[in-house]
Amino acid sequence: MNSTTFRTVNLPATPVQRVRQPADIFEALLQSIQGGESHARPTLELTPDSPFMPFLEIGYALRACMERPARHDYLLQRLRPHLSVMVGTLPASIQPMGMLPKLAPLPSFRQLEEISDDEIHHWLIQEGGLIYGEMQRFELENYFDAVKAYLAPGGIMVDLGSGLGKVVMTAALSFPFTRCIGVELMNYRHRLAQERLVRVLTLTRQGLEALSEPLKPETPLRLPTGITVNGRHLLELGARIVFIENDMFKVDLRGASLVFLYSTCFGPLMDALSNKLARELPEGAVVTTTTYSIRHPAFQLLESHPPGTLSWTSVMIYRRVGPPMSEPAAETRYLHQPDVEAWETRAREELGS
Ligand SMILES: C[S@@+](CC[C@H](N)C(=O)[O-])C[C@H]1O[C@@H](n2cnc3c(N)ncnc32)[C@H](O)[C@@H]1O
Repeated sequence: MNSTTFRTVNLPATPVQRVRQPADIFEALLQSIQGGESHARPTLELTPDSPFMPFLEIGYALRACMERPARHDYLLQRLRPHLSVMVGTLPASIQPMGMLPKLAPLPSFRQLEEISDDEIHHWLIQEGGLIYGEMQRFELENYFDAVKAYLAPGGIMVDLGSGLGKVVMTAALSFPFTRCIGVELMNYRHRLAQERLVRVLTLTRQGLEALSEPLKPETPLRLPTGITVNGRHLLELGARIVFIENDMFKVDLRGASLVFLYSTCFGPLMDALSNKLARELPEGAVVTTTTYSIRHPAFQLLESHPPGTLSWTSVMIYRRVGPPMSEPAAETRYLHQPDVEAWETRAREELGS
């Protein structure tokens, strides 16, 4: 598919009232996994065993400064050295609607003065990566149309930062991957993805029962992407989808054939991510990114779609080339340095409002 044939809007989705054919089941399943971008965001839990405790402590210290005008100068002074890793003007999670609980801080939590620049830097990187968004349905249809040219049937698809699981489940429905795996750091998003999977599998079972002719394992089946597989694709759907709650940097990617990264908020992570992908992925594996490119000799750019074509943002498709790599690429390639004065003006406006 070339850019002139990309879809630009979602087709109106009519709820599936009656299942007559497998295409109706696909439609009902795809409809059931839309809209995750507007899910209610719960605040993080303030419990001693939370893996987010260090994140909460630093977030509380920053928020305490944001809430007191007398501390604004100090807040800006501490944030200023880290603009290269900040998404937006002020961190979203310390805002009134952000991820931090409204509860009082724990007595052991430190003040901002006791928190190092290095800790703030890493906090900001993590904070940016936790921002949530999803591609729309038509964008994912464009995506799988573009990427399928580089994939052989079978293989393992991985979404690093899989959120509510839309891409993983769309992949499992759209292409004959042996397995589709989502890795998500935030517990509640992982849980929502699992709940959505249960709903998808329930709808699949109900849809299969409603068919006038039972779908047999060997019956030819046409996927929404136009690829023909057989009935096992739907009959064994549940066995092909896995959601893992973990940090993407702790998951081994050695067997993956397609890695999807909705990397629009991963700018400061791109160096570490591309080094990891170069170290672990087999030659020939395909990696796709949004907004940020991979600048690493182990990746050959296959396609680059500018904003407003495949998706609202740019989408790049790469192939892993060359022998296994153990050494990280030394230099840092992704830092950007926004205009400090313009940032400070915007930040003061936001703090004042
Ligand atoms: C922009 S959302 C994309 C969700 C999903 N991939 C999609 O496209 O629909 C990015 C997700 O990455 C998750 N994330 C950020 N850092 C992560 C990490 N280190 N390990 C795993 N997930 C992470 C965030 O919590 C968020 O749910």
